[in-house]
Amino acid sequence: MSSSSLTTLVSLLLPCLLSLLLLHLSTVLDPDPDAAAPRVKKAPPLPLRFRHDGTFKILQVADMHFGNGAATRCRDVGPDGGGALCSDLNTTRFLRRLIEAEKPDLIAFTGDNIFGTSATDAAESLLKAISPAMEFKVPWAAILGNHDQESTMTREELMTFMSLMDYSVSQVNPPGFLVHGFGNYHIGIHGPYGSELVNTSLLNLYFLDSGDREVVNGVKTYGWIKESQQAWLRSISLELQVH
Ligand SMILES: *[C@@H]1O[C@H](CO)[C@@H](O)[C@H](O)[C@H]1NC(C)=O
Ligand SMILES: *[C@@H]1O[C@H](CO)[C@@H](O)[C@H](O)[C@H]1NC(C)=O
Repeated sequence: MSSSSLTTLVSLLLPCLLSLLLLHLSTVLDPDPDAAAPRVKKAPPLPLRFRHDGTFKILQVADMHFGNGAATRCRDVGPDGGGALCSDLNTTRFLRRLIEAEKPDLIAFTGDNIFGTSATDAAESLLKAISPAMEFKVPWAAILGNHDQESTMTREELMTFMSLMDYSVSQVNPPGFLVHGFGNYHIGIHGPYGSELVNTSLLNLYFLDSGDREVVNGVKTYGWIKESQQAWLRSISLELQVH
């Protein structure tokens, strides 16, 4: 691991350690026998690594369009809407089956994870939508589509929340870089333990926020990846090529 990515890791960990400390302090200062133990994020073992057989399996899940769970009917599943039985829970069951069958090393949720107009509480919908990954303790990374922020959280709040959920490796933005959007980050997949490449990232995954919607010269259109994001991508990619 390069010293700069170690610094990045430390600067990422420091706020967690600080909030842990604060949680403990507040428990000591204000003991409440009825309060549940403070809940801290369950983190996956980092860095992520290739398996000993040289594989690393990524399951990409896009457009779950998750709403309120059992109460949200399926769309686009035939003329009858998939029948009265079809809801968001079918998505959950499908995701569980995929995880059991494929045993992915990482799940990449690439946007429209929740669907604003049918999600009355963004945090609850996200927790439900991502629950299979957390249940199976699979590390996961997420970015946003153009529908995620249509519920009760902004794009910044959504990325922050997702970065704090169990087994998440999502990050809001690269520390020390001013980039457009929320959800621009890099994840390095290292060689397996016991190999010569144990400290080397063999696969660099870049996540970029392609935005929401924009109006250009009075015309409504979708967002795009901006100059500042490309500058960050070039910079980190060059830095990683040196090491
Ligand atoms: C949704 O799940 C229910 C319960 O397992 C099942 O009966 C129904 O056929 C599923 N719908 C679709 C479209 O797969
Ligand atoms: C990997 O890093 C650890 C900790 O810095 C070091 O002890 C070990 O020798 C390194 N292994 C290799 C193969 O570079």
